[in-house]
Amino acid sequence: MKRDLLTILDFSSEEIKALLNRAIILKEQWRSGESQLSLAGKTLGLLFDKPSTRTRVSFEVAMYQLGGQVLFLSSSETQLSRDESLQDTARVLSRYIDGLAVRTYHDANLQELASHAEIPVINALTDLYHPCQVLSDILTVKEKKGDLDSLQVAWVGDGNNVAHSWVNAAARLPFQLSLACPPGYEPETEILQKAQKLAEDRIRLSHDPVEAVRDADVINTDVWTSMGQDRERQERLAAFRDYQINETLIRKAKSDVIVMHCLPAHRGEEISDEVMDGPHSVVYDQAENRLHLQRALLDWLLGDPAR
Ligand code: CP
Ligand code: NVA
Repeated sequence: MKRDLLTILDFSSEEIKALLNRAIILKEQWRSGESQLSLAGKTLGLLFDKPSTRTRVSFEVAMYQLGGQVLFLSSSETQLSRDESLQDTARVLSRYIDGLAVRTYHDANLQELASHAEIPVINALTDLYHPCQVLSDILTVKEKKGDLDSLQVAWVGDGNNVAHSWVNAAARLPFQLSLACPPGYEPETEILQKAQKLAEDRIRLSHDPVEAVRDADVINTDVWTSMGQDRERQERLAAFRDYQINETLIRKAKSDVIVMHCLPAHRGEEISDEVMDGPHSVVYDQAENRLHLQRALLDWLLGDPAR
């Protein structure tokens, strides 16, 4: 049966650990120049409604490195822009391609595509989640910190799609997650409560960035205004003013804290230049790991199940 990745909760803890381990092996092989052409003859479609640099390029390169090919489909250039249904689009694409990565606004549209597709569907970001980002970020944390057990991970900023995926990751993996979001910008209650139930007491939410980063091993942030929220930019700038990751804030964390940002960043807003370019920042390693994690993901979801 086909497997989708719509949210991190689609995978069990064991599956996530296996995926991370596979990504580590593929990364080592790639570094030593070994090729792995397990997806020769396969095609991944990328159906995107929003802009992208990292996600698009890392998925495309991942497929090429695995011997496959990609088809980039800007949804405005497909018949979706002229009201063809998601259902028919999913059914037709399933006859041509072997997997579909989707970047869109409404998570319900992704779910609709996945429910009618006969091929694996991967969430390449919706307004609600960004699972490939956070699985890759966890690979980076594992590389930098070793075991995830009892690590203190902080999220400072918007309770957005990336934050939701961190919340789901904490439901599956044994780290402590402490979020600090301005009032009115917390993660969605339903997503948070479901994860808190699964994670027991490992997920905490406050409005205090200092409290969230105290003794943290990892600090995460993201833009204050996500794609599709541009009209809210001025009020968001005011609401998030005290939530910047800067030298003063990171001094409250452990001395070897790593600072993460999924990028693109708005330097001088959610993160200072000093921190972004400083010794604690791992942002470019994070970006690189999108490629390695997604190669492992594609190899698993699109590869020959008998292998
Ligand atoms: N982090 C991330 O998903 O970046 P892009 O929007 O450039 O794909
Ligand atoms: N939260 C950001 C993430 C970009 C990768 C957005 O949705 O715009």
